[in-house]
Amino acid sequence: MEMENKIARLREMRAKAELCGGQKRIDAQHAKGKLIARERIRKLVDPDSFEEFDMFAQHQSHNFGMEKNKILSDGVITGCGTINGRVVYVFAQDFTVFGGSLSSTYANKICKIMDMAMKVGAPVIGLNDSGGARIQEGVDALAGYAEIFWRNVQASGVIPQISAILGPCAGGAVYSPAITDFVIMDRKNSYMFVTGPKVVKTVLNEDITTENLGGAMVHAGKSGVAQFVTDDEEETILLIRKLLSYIPSNNMEEPPCLTTTDPIDRVCEELNNIIPENPNKPYDIIEVIHTLADDGEFLEVARNFAQNIVVGYMRLNGYVVGVVANQPRILAGVLDINASVKASRFVRFCDAFNIPLLVIEDVPGFLPGSNQEHNGIIRHGAKLLYAFAEATVPKVTLIVRKAYGGAYCVMNSRHMRADMVYAWPSAEIAVMGPKGAVEIIFRKEAKDAADADVLLAEREEEYRDKFANPYAAAEKGYIDDVIEPAVTRFRLIRAFEMLATKKDTNPPKKHGNIPL
Ligand code: HXC
Repeated sequence: MEMENKIARLREMRAKAELCGGQKRIDAQHAKGKLIARERIRKLVDPDSFEEFDMFAQHQSHNFGMEKNKILSDGVITGCGTINGRVVYVFAQDFTVFGGSLSSTYANKICKIMDMAMKVGAPVIGLNDSGGARIQEGVDALAGYAEIFWRNVQASGVIPQISAILGPCAGGAVYSPAITDFVIMDRKNSYMFVTGPKVVKTVLNEDITTENLGGAMVHAGKSGVAQFVTDDEEETILLIRKLLSYIPSNNMEEPPCLTTTDPIDRVCEELNNIIPENPNKPYDIIEVIHTLADDGEFLEVARNFAQNIVVGYMRLNGYVVGVVANQPRILAGVLDINASVKASRFVRFCDAFNIPLLVIEDVPGFLPGSNQEHNGIIRHGAKLLYAFAEATVPKVTLIVRKAYGGAYCVMNSRHMRADMVYAWPSAEIAVMGPKGAVEIIFRKEAKDAADADVLLAEREEEYRDKFANPYAAAEKGYIDDVIEPAVTRFRLIRAFEMLATKKDTNPPKKHGNIPL
């Protein structure tokens, strides 16, 4: 009988915990089109796989009458589950409890799962929806944040960390998601900023809405903080599950390999005609990627940011490959500050997590101009060079058209230790484009010539003949083979298979000094 009572008490407490901040607040959350924390987790993980920790945790604050205001679980739901059978650790902030604000107890709950995830070698997924530091906790809340930040940094490059922003995320709280590998923002309900519109008004007398200051599109398109924008929570959850299907659980594992029915030797005739005859005409590099990929599937990362470079994941014969490709449709595929930053972060993630890299190159160079120079294209462009140079995963480059100047060097050239470099017959590998080149080297001759235009046109043709092809580079072994576009899929699959056992290391050091 005694045991029965005890079990009844346990059940009662569980039911109370499930009620979070009360039915009224749950209803208010639902009315905004938002799920509550446990609902989110249950949708995210495999059915019945969630093991909740610290359901009975409570805050320890005695300030402002808080000792009389305690709610089981204290505003964050934490635990472990599986996604497609693989272990993941999850925390979900519960906005119905003190606005999801962070107490010392709450921070300890998050730290506990982060520590476990590090021991086990499993990803951490954070579902963020919080008013920030719990004001009544004072410095204890700040200490809690800093404990989480420290763990985020320790975990960086060891286990994947994914943040979904499903409500407010403001103040210093933004820095935990910022350190994680991927930030996904819900278009309708999420925002992130260091200081909100009210402070902006007070300090700068600037009127700005929450959405325009830190909404999903701002961070996906302008700041680059968010790599993905989703229309609703359902899409967010599906995206997290999909993203995980491309990445390993930790830095000692390989990414998940899937079997495919897409033939490895599928001939892609359409690629023989995709490069326009006019070298200044754009085409869509994403079409090339889709054509090469198993079943045409490509998960693009940071689609709304620096669209002149495309990064994301595809599979070749079931094996995951990280793709970095110039996009001739946007700014002619030029490298600028944002493209360099976007691609270098992607390359470093792939390298940290054993994801081989495929570079598809059609780049006319770096973007000129005072805006770029003054904002540090030298420093930011150097990041991309650095990232490719330090990456030790299998690295394959495919030059499909332009590979000009410094951008040729940077974009995973042979000299950056690309393992295999292929070129299509349409490749043009040179210091610069023909027109600019002849204007420089024949300036004097043109000045003296009877008809400068005719002379320059002739010289341009000569230059084009000499350099606007892949053979000068092939002659020197800078590229390994010139291949027909139609057989690229097969050649890439074979290259990555050949490189699967590649072992390479950088010299021992505490860490390098990437130009941040
Ligand atoms: C304690 C909080 C809270 C907080 C919200 N609540 N934020 N309680 N600490 N930080 C409580 C509210 O009192 C309210 O309680 C409930 O949560 C829901 O809040 P509402 O204001 O009713 O909701 P809403 O209108 O949707 O507005 C959400 C909000 C707003 C925009 C997040 O609550 C807000 O501005 N909160 C303060 C945000 C903030 O300044 N946080 C500190 C930032 S500094 P009841 O009982 O009425 O339901 C920071 C430093 C981190 O975070 C440093 C890390 C290094």
